[in-house]
Amino acid sequence: MDDNDPYVVAIDGPGGSGKGSLALRIAKNLGFHLLDSGAIYRLAALKALHQGIDLEQEAGVVSALQNLDIRFEIGEELSIPYLDGQDVSTEIRQESTADAASIIARYAGVRKHLLGWQQACFQAPGLVADGRDMGTVVFPQARFKFFLSASVEIRAVRRYKQLIGMGISANIDKLQAEISERDERDRNRTESPLIPATDALIVDSSLLNLEQVAELVMSHIEETIENRSW
Ligand code: C5P
Repeated sequence: MDDNDPYVVAIDGPGGSGKGSLALRIAKNLGFHLLDSGAIYRLAALKALHQGIDLEQEAGVVSALQNLDIRFEIGEELSIPYLDGQDVSTEIRQESTADAASIIARYAGVRKHLLGWQQACFQAPGLVADGRDMGTVVFPQARFKFFLSASVEIRAVRRYKQLIGMGISANIDKLQAEISERDERDRNRTESPLIPATDALIVDSSLLNLEQVAELVMSHIEETIENRSW
């Protein structure tokens, strides 16, 4: 492996652990592309919902994804998701969409369908990818793997602030219950469950802010590159 070869930084963890903001920060620091794989699952779920598909039926959901038309318009601070040519930035962030995403994310057929799309995002000069299975399944060859964790109480507060900031109303207790339910579903599914890769660095972000986590992650990357331990 050469120093200048493009590489992947995988950042996995449960919802609200701060991996999205961290991934954006690290991608900017390294000048890399960014993959928010959760957004792909949310768009797939929206597609099925728009078509009135019963989310409990894997075959129906998989067939709705056959003509999935998704793209992201990358802006300075945020990227705008489009589904079938429509801007769905607000709809994609609703908790109901997150729930639907975690329901269809259990299906092997759905995950297989979305795998190539995610892997195609790995292009020079490199990629920072965040999700649940970036380090375990989608990019097992990632040069750096991080797994972000944080207590459910803290994640609910973070998600609350994020939603309010986007003008979406929310209730902390309800959010906490919904996040716990999604965690349970994501951790206990058979296909690509939410677990740290064996070679991931686990970072508990409960008591750290974004700057502190980003500093820790960047120091690890820079020190490893300096010591060239691959
Ligand atoms: O990260 P985000 O909250 O947007 O993800 C929504 C849902 O999509 C998760 O609860 C999870 O079930 C699913 N997901 C997944 N694999 C990924 C990213 C997201 O199963 N790599």
